[in-house]
Amino acid sequence: MKFQGSDNYVATQDLMLAVNAAITLKRPLLVKGEPGTGKTMLAEEVSAALGLPLLQWHVKSTTKAQQGLYEYDAVSRLRDSQLRDDESVQKVRNISNYILRGVLWQAFTSDTPVALLIDEIDKADIEFPNDLLRELDRMEFYVYETRELVQARHRPVVFITSNNEKELPDAFLRRCFFHFIRFPERETMERIVQAHYPDIRRDLASEALNVFFQIREVNELKKKPATSELLDWLKLLMIEDMPVEALRSNDAKVAIPPLHGALLKNEQDVHLFERLAFLSRARR
Ligand SMILES: Nc1ncnc2c1ncn2[C@@H]1O[C@H](COP(=O)(O)OP(=O)(O)O)[C@@H](O)[C@H]1O
Ligand SMILES: [Mg+2]
Repeated sequence: MKFQGSDNYVATQDLMLAVNAAITLKRPLLVKGEPGTGKTMLAEEVSAALGLPLLQWHVKSTTKAQQGLYEYDAVSRLRDSQLRDDESVQKVRNISNYILRGVLWQAFTSDTPVALLIDEIDKADIEFPNDLLRELDRMEFYVYETRELVQARHRPVVFITSNNEKELPDAFLRRCFFHFIRFPERETMERIVQAHYPDIRRDLASEALNVFFQIREVNELKKKPATSELLDWLKLLMIEDMPVEALRSNDAKVAIPPLHGALLKNEQDVHLFERLAFLSRARR
């Protein structure tokens, strides 16, 4: 099993090395990077390239580790226990009818090898990664309600992503292979744009990338636009058949770009740009 990138996904050399190293070591690949740098898409592309179905677990602030293993549905059992028909009585007797299998359980018991994505692990509280240590390490867990040990038939290829909102515990980090996706350099970004829009006008793509990277140079921005914003913006520019001149100005660094709503996502950043544009016009 070796990952070599794909037509849709531009993987740098070091990213491909990291993916293959994690697979060789049989450790989860922990991918960090700012939002929109292709962490989620990496899991989708690698699993597709390796021919493995991908089970996805999108973590929220309220997600508990236990939910990935199983949940005991006590409410349904209580409700059924108030019914008197034979079928319900039988059902209530067997507690395993009320055990809901989580994503890890599904990954562990799949007939064929699968890939597993634990997406945005830093969204949950600090206990979350610690609570999954043993399960991810030993690839097994115990179901107390039914006294059953669930063991992985095949070790899944595990991807874990983090947007770096929280630090992860050391014990957790030790068990992962780590890769940080750096924000793409211009040349890599050109390839990403090509992968998405092979028919884009070259002059438009090139000028739009100039504007995009100039915007990212403004350090005061609250939220710098990332790859997905660039791709949205380019799509709009293509639909509008925007002339390159509309993106150019005497001082492109400070002009507010057309359709900037795709790039700048809060009013402070828009104001900042308008102010810079005003100042530069006054200076001219
Ligand atoms: N290396 C890449 N190759 C191709 N497209 C990419 C790449 N990185 C990001 N993208 C684009 O950016 C979008 C956002 O990527 P995503 O995987 O959701 O980022 P993240 O999970 O890091 O926030 C993707 O849907 C894809 O269109
Ligand atoms: Mg993501």
